[in-house]
Amino acid sequence: MAREFLEAGDPRLRLACEDPDAFFDHLERFEAGVDLPRNRVRQTWFWLYRGERMIGASRLRHRLIRFLQRDGGHIAYEIRPSERRKGYGTEILRLTLKEAAAIGVRRALLTTDPTNAASIGVIRNNGGTFGGNSVSLESGQLLNRYWIEIRADRG
Ligand SMILES: CC(C)(COP(=O)(O)OP(=O)(O)OC[C@H]1O[C@@H](n2cnc3c(N)ncnc32)[C@H](O)[C@@H]1OP(=O)(O)O)[C@@H](O)C(=O)NCCC(=O)NCCS
Repeated sequence: MAREFLEAGDPRLRLACEDPDAFFDHLERFEAGVDLPRNRVRQTWFWLYRGERMIGASRLRHRLIRFLQRDGGHIAYEIRPSERRKGYGTEILRLTLKEAAAIGVRRALLTTDPTNAASIGVIRNNGGTFGGNSVSLESGQLLNRYWIEIRADRG
């Protein structure tokens, strides 16, 4: 899956291709919440599978800090290019919101590029309501913010 992202010109999983050990060390450090870079918090990765085939990934941040309130929010996700527009983006966010509920998040923040129609579709399909714009402290990019209320019994 990581190779497919790279071949499509998306470098987000480059480390997984080039140095899998370093990639899994990185994941474990984030899961444990130790030795994190500035502006990062404890984070859990989830993998979406259809049978044996890995379809996508999501990341759940365990708390919001000032940086994430502007850029990143609670949850990020991606679906491999060959499996897009089949509802998997909507599904991975639905499942990750259940995990968020399990760690006590009651109101999830998501941020996205205003031109990312696919991500906005995923958020709206999960009940996201527009919460205004922000400007990323890192990139200076304008972002849309959305809130999703999470019921404790979310199924
Ligand atoms: C965003 C992303 C996860 C969407 O995944 P997906 O599996 O294609 O999403 P879905 O199939 O659930 O589609 C969700 C909605 O967006 C719409 N949509 C999907 N791709 C679209 C596109 N390229 N342009 C316009 N609308 C699009 C779908 O039609 C659907 O709307 P509908 O339910 O009203 O028909 C995927 O495009 C991706 O991985 N992008 C790169 C990473 C990224 O941008 N992540 C989000 C920011 S953290």
